[in-house]
Amino acid sequence: MALPTPPTTAAVPPRAQSAAEALTPLIESTYTSPEIIFYINGRKTTLSNPNPHWTLLDYIRAQPNLKGTKLGCGEGGCGACTVVLQVPESRSEKRRVKHLSVNACLFPLVGIDGKHVITVEGIGSVDKPHPLQERIAKLHGSQCGFCTPGIVMSLYALVRNAYDPETKKFKLSERDIELEGHLDGNLCRCTGYKPILQAAKTFITEDLKGKLADESTAPDDAKVDREVLDLAQTGCGSASKGSCGRPGGCCRDGPSDSSSSDSISPASTPPTEPTSTPDDENIPAVVGVAKEPQPDPALSGATYAPPVKSKENKLGETEIKTATTLEAPLSESRHGVPHVQFLEYVPGTELIFPSALWKYEPRPLCYGNGKKIWLRPTTLDQLITLKDAYPSAKLVGGASEVQVEVRFKHSDFAVSVYVSDIPELRETKLPSDAQLVSASELVIAANTPLTELETICKEVYAKLGKRAMVLEALRKQLRYFAGRQIRNVASLAGNIATASPISDANPVLLASGATLVARNKTKGAIALPMSEFFVAYRTTTLPPDAVLTHIRLPIPSHEAREVSKAYKQAKRKDDDIAIVTSAFRVRLGNEGYVEDVCLVYGGMAPTTKEAIKAKQTLLGKKWFNSETLDVALDALIKDFDLPYTVPGGMAHYRKTLTLSLFFRFWHESAAELGLGEVDNQAIDEIHRAISDGIRDDYNPNEQRVVGKQVPHLSSVKQCTGEAEYIDDMPKQDRELFGGLVLSTKAHAKVVSVDWAPALELPGVVGYIDKNSISKDKNVWGSIKKDEPFFVEDEVLHHGQVIGMVYAETALEAQAAARAVKIVYEDLPVILTIDEAIDANSFFDHGKHLRKGLALDDRMDEAFAQCDRIFEGTTRMGGQEHFYLETNAALVVPSGEDGQMEVWSSTQNTMETQEFVSQVTGVPSNRINARVKRLGGGFGGKESRSVPFACYLAIAAKKEKRPMRLMLNRDEDMLLSGQRHPVQARWRVGVSNEGKLIALEADVYDNAGYSQDMSGAVMDRCITHFDNTYECPNVYLRGHVCRTNIHSNTAFRGFGAPQGMYFAETYMYNIAEGLNMDIDELRLKNLYKVGEHTPFFQKIDDDWHVPITLEQLRRSSEYEKRKAAVAAFNKTNRWKKRGICLVPTKFGLSFATALHLNQAGAYIKIYHDGSVLLHHGGTEMGQGLYTKMCQIAAQELGVPLDSIYTQDSQTYQIANASPTAASSGSDLNGMAVKNACDQINERLAPYREQLGKDAPLRALAHAAYLDRVNLAANGFWKMPKVGYKWGDTNWDTVKPMYYYFTQGAGCTEVEVDLLTGDHTVLRTDLMMDVGNSINPAIDYGQIEGAFIQGQGLFTMEETLWTTSGQLFTKGPGTYKIPGFADIPQIFNVSLLRNDLDGKPLTWHHLRSVQSSKGIGEPPLFLGSTVFFALREAVKAAREMNGQGLQGWELDSPATSERLRLAVGDEISRKAQVVRREGEKAFFVAVA
Ligand SMILES: Cc1cc2nc3c(=O)[nH]c(=O)nc-3n(C[C@H](O)[C@H](O)[C@H](O)COP(=O)(O)OP(=O)(O)OC[C@H]3O[C@@H](n4cnc5c(N)ncnc54)[C@H](O)[C@@H]3O)c2cc1C
Ligand code: FES
Ligand code: FES
Repeated sequence: MALPTPPTTAAVPPRAQSAAEALTPLIESTYTSPEIIFYINGRKTTLSNPNPHWTLLDYIRAQPNLKGTKLGCGEGGCGACTVVLQVPESRSEKRRVKHLSVNACLFPLVGIDGKHVITVEGIGSVDKPHPLQERIAKLHGSQCGFCTPGIVMSLYALVRNAYDPETKKFKLSERDIELEGHLDGNLCRCTGYKPILQAAKTFITEDLKGKLADESTAPDDAKVDREVLDLAQTGCGSASKGSCGRPGGCCRDGPSDSSSSDSISPASTPPTEPTSTPDDENIPAVVGVAKEPQPDPALSGATYAPPVKSKENKLGETEIKTATTLEAPLSESRHGVPHVQFLEYVPGTELIFPSALWKYEPRPLCYGNGKKIWLRPTTLDQLITLKDAYPSAKLVGGASEVQVEVRFKHSDFAVSVYVSDIPELRETKLPSDAQLVSASELVIAANTPLTELETICKEVYAKLGKRAMVLEALRKQLRYFAGRQIRNVASLAGNIATASPISDANPVLLASGATLVARNKTKGAIALPMSEFFVAYRTTTLPPDAVLTHIRLPIPSHEAREVSKAYKQAKRKDDDIAIVTSAFRVRLGNEGYVEDVCLVYGGMAPTTKEAIKAKQTLLGKKWFNSETLDVALDALIKDFDLPYTVPGGMAHYRKTLTLSLFFRFWHESAAELGLGEVDNQAIDEIHRAISDGIRDDYNPNEQRVVGKQVPHLSSVKQCTGEAEYIDDMPKQDRELFGGLVLSTKAHAKVVSVDWAPALELPGVVGYIDKNSISKDKNVWGSIKKDEPFFVEDEVLHHGQVIGMVYAETALEAQAAARAVKIVYEDLPVILTIDEAIDANSFFDHGKHLRKGLALDDRMDEAFAQCDRIFEGTTRMGGQEHFYLETNAALVVPSGEDGQMEVWSSTQNTMETQEFVSQVTGVPSNRINARVKRLGGGFGGKESRSVPFACYLAIAAKKEKRPMRLMLNRDEDMLLSGQRHPVQARWRVGVSNEGKLIALEADVYDNAGYSQDMSGAVMDRCITHFDNTYECPNVYLRGHVCRTNIHSNTAFRGFGAPQGMYFAETYMYNIAEGLNMDIDELRLKNLYKVGEHTPFFQKIDDDWHVPITLEQLRRSSEYEKRKAAVAAFNKTNRWKKRGICLVPTKFGLSFATALHLNQAGAYIKIYHDGSVLLHHGGTEMGQGLYTKMCQIAAQELGVPLDSIYTQDSQTYQIANASPTAASSGSDLNGMAVKNACDQINERLAPYREQLGKDAPLRALAHAAYLDRVNLAANGFWKMPKVGYKWGDTNWDTVKPMYYYFTQGAGCTEVEVDLLTGDHTVLRTDLMMDVGNSINPAIDYGQIEGAFIQGQGLFTMEETLWTTSGQLFTKGPGTYKIPGFADIPQIFNVSLLRNDLDGKPLTWHHLRSVQSSKGIGEPPLFLGSTVFFALREAVKAAREMNGQGLQGWELDSPATSERLRLAVGDEISRKAQVVRREGEKAFFVAVA
């Protein structure tokens, strides 16, 4: 095959030759191979001249059988794309392999040459899952499943590296799993992480003291790399002391504290087959390992008759058993206690390193085309020659910078050179121990992967001790540097050459006095001192034709009294770029005077920067002297005097951190050198212990199927990567891909749009925009039709859709979309709620709640009755949904009658169908809107998913070709709206005793540019403004602000968390104002049965908040811990703790959209006895399909695995309400039951005839032969509800909510006052979910919602630029909680008994199986973290003599807000003055 011709791009800096002229001779002489040869899942593969724009992920996802590896962000921030590279271990003399988890979305395709790539499909399948896959599934570690393959692969690398084939020992500890950062590059938005960690911990062999359990199957020579672990001995019941990590804790952990009961509650659909016996005990779940797990016959084991050929066919002659056991991993349960059985981790089944690769000789590669080429040299000389010939060639190491530039900054590197396979650059050779002792420096190969460098740092530090403190400082920075997958491939050279001002490694290198070694053809080795290397923003002294080859890191002499330390503060501890990062080194003379000092900061200037003024001040001063500390702090302020408007914002916080981190260093260095008594509390950073926690895991009301802890029915498929999401669906014949043209302005007139340049690009087929449909059809909206599909004449927010280009591939479509030229004329923007109020920019809303004197406009009188009145303005930021699967759709026109199959990742099939019908002009009966599963929704796909299907449908109709679209993460965040930022201006009056008397508030939400559901969100917000407290006189006014940001939308909780947050805020203000204990105030004002809410709903006697609070108070040992927290705070100067116990109630039903409270279901029993179930709900990880199948199985009296749900589609269920408002189970469950009732009635005669235990296949077959209809259409509408706004008649007003899901949460936190960093020490949650249909799913919802709430109230912060551009557009800038953020102790229980231990009954609950909706209600309990933090900071303020008067902590309680609220001397010193008219760099829009 012909060698690629290099691009003709001109060289920079100008040389005589173009790339083609410079490189062609080299390619012809050296880079003669255009083939990448590698193994994938054990199979040898050769790629000849592949697409040079492809990453590894692009290649993998282009393979029809490898769709398990997902695209979640494309920037290395979510881990959904994780695969494992199996490679020879270069630092070992022996033939050893190691397993590296890497982000396929960043990894250059060229880099897999000579390696073995393992994807999730390579390790197991539904038929034969890997134990990891099976255990995550069975322990409920997968909900929507989109993150799961990536997490499986990160754990796979860990598990495989835990085995040493030489010693044949396997060693994996809890510490390895949780504290060494193996999972820090993976995000999950659904599960709350706890069950995943528990599944991982079932592999722990601490019990075995690192020995392999079963050595009888020791690998033979040919299979030296097979890892072997027999878990049989790690399960419960072994003599070991460790925990197996199973749900409910290990049987070694002792029993949990909830009690048993055997009784069931009366309900509208009472449980049909209770299985609990009165002597059931509350025993924790049991986990075992078995060769062949035995499934529970109640759940699996359906048998089917063969097809009926003729009347003579006899029943049961040849029964066919389904093979669904593994698809639906079943958990058996005895007396309400789950018994989980695992497959053994069988030795010898792991993928081995292909023997051919041991002999593999790397050779120079080159592939590409006239626009872009890749070269892969194999020696340093080849690289130097190449760089000399063509200096502009872009070097690529781990690609963690370069690929982000390519994808998001659209940098188009014409010539890319992969350097990570060059041994001289990537292999750091450690000197012998003897050499090391006398070494004055450590020489690091520039492209050594960072995880390897971490190991080297540890090794050298272990050998040299404190002399090598700089390496320990570097290791510490590396531990919190990006995610594991990035650290496995990224390099110091990449970090240094990028010259990012927030680099974490550069401060350490600079402070240590490191020297870089570069090399070029003309000068050979060039020494570049780090101190002179950074000359301006991302500009260095590295000559363009040079390559960084080594870093020389000085190690101080034995005699030196030197200390080096590094510190970093980010929004999230794990995998986050720094806000401020620093490294310090000080050397003292014998008398303790400063001989040398170097204080280096990142994040404080356009480059990594040394504090020169502070250095000058400190030189010659006595270090251990408080005056020295003071003058150093003053000098640092001069070094880094940031203005209010500084790029990146947070001027005051960054200055404060600059001082705080030095303050910490001063203390720590003094302690290290033994200079005298220091305050050790100033030194300690926040530390995390290994997490723990229980679910109370026992269901006294368990029936044959309902009430069992059945794992999500798709969970094994999700773990093996076989579960199909929209973008995994096979490529359709002649399919095209859409690329959206998005506005770059927040508010502007569109002067012109020129799409001609886009149409000229390769692969582009066409373009659509407002001109492609008539004006009356160019409008949509969920409640009010007020937004155009395509911009008409004026753009109203950054990212608004102007048009869509479609092309043969996604990359081509996206490139073409960027080529569309748009001319704008800027208009002024309104971004914040305050700006909207000032400009009177509102949507019509006008819904108020009035109670008591407010009904007669006599709130003044109400306030006149109060002893004390408090008021405030409270703000709460929005929240990005960050579902792992971005919006996607696939439209397939049939070619006949305008019919279309419209696949969409939507929660709303009906609106998808309705609007596709509108834009295509085809009636709804020809539009089948379908969805099999969503990779998370959380409300974000309730309405905002609709336009994407419509764009595709317009184009599909025009071209008569299938169209597909999957948004990039940044597009999704720009377009799809978020949780509403809100603001309340409230006033509350109380008696001196703390009894609420009057409450009045104006509440605002930031709707964005269109209404979407913002009015309904506001309704729910003000109907939860009471949380659980009675107030006789209430006047609440809701306002919906119109601004120039994206249209905010539904998000789990739908305004209720915001309302309840306001309630708890005014309660804290009252308690502080009255100097009253907050818990006493809460109890005093809790609703009592018979009282009414501000919307006149009577609190009925299913009111369980008081007993929930009390039970949680006891089980969490709240009083004892509250006292301990107070004691801790008295004795701690630099750390404070806070604790709180907060109740919640959440109203269930589509509150003010009565018509949505209906559902349909369709059941078909085939004559073989198998059942097909459809209902209107969509599956997005919340386990709805599983619960619905359980209900159908229970009602029809069949095993669970005889029920099958294929997808949700409008051809099966017409007019389905969106799956939202936590009502999916309530509505669809009742419709399913209704259909089952009809079928049961029709089958009754056959049951009588064939016996009550006759299998369904026998009944169905008999009924079929009698021509009985075996299909039934179920329907249900929610009774009772129907509140009408403004109806204030106590007697006739209908309830707004069908019932309240109730609960309480208790959280304890610790805050580092120097940085604002925090950790959640413990959380206990208790929820009243009625009779749970599936406790495992409900626990998962509770834990997941809590963690999402924790993110909302602490770290998730959406920011805009002052001109209205969304800044937080991906996981790099927007942080959701990760594995290391969950509470260190995390206990979840369900309310089952009253305070006397008697089983509870729900007298008014008329829901299916007496269960309650649980998706949204627990989310608010994430605020317990916020309120506990508030308590901790309050303690700090009191210590610092700061009053509470006028003090507000807005949500989210970011590290910035927490640190600045401490009110100490350091933050006062760092104060930044805001000058007249100055605006902060970023805008938060609440
Ligand atoms: C999700 C994510 C998280 C991150 N988190 C952090 C973080 O916490 N802290 C932090 O500091 N950084 C972070 N980064 C930035 C990045 O990972 C680091 O800068 C990393 O060290 C880059 O190394 P690399 O090998 O991947 O560089 P590449 O992307 O391969 O290259 C980066 C630059 O270095 C040049 N280069 C590479 N090798 C050489 C060489 N031998 N000689 C000369 N030039 C060379 C390249 O030409 C390119 O200009 C993060 C990045 C991502 C995507
Ligand atoms: S898709 Fe690769 S890390 Fe998110
Ligand atoms: S299960 Fe992890 S993101 Fe949904």
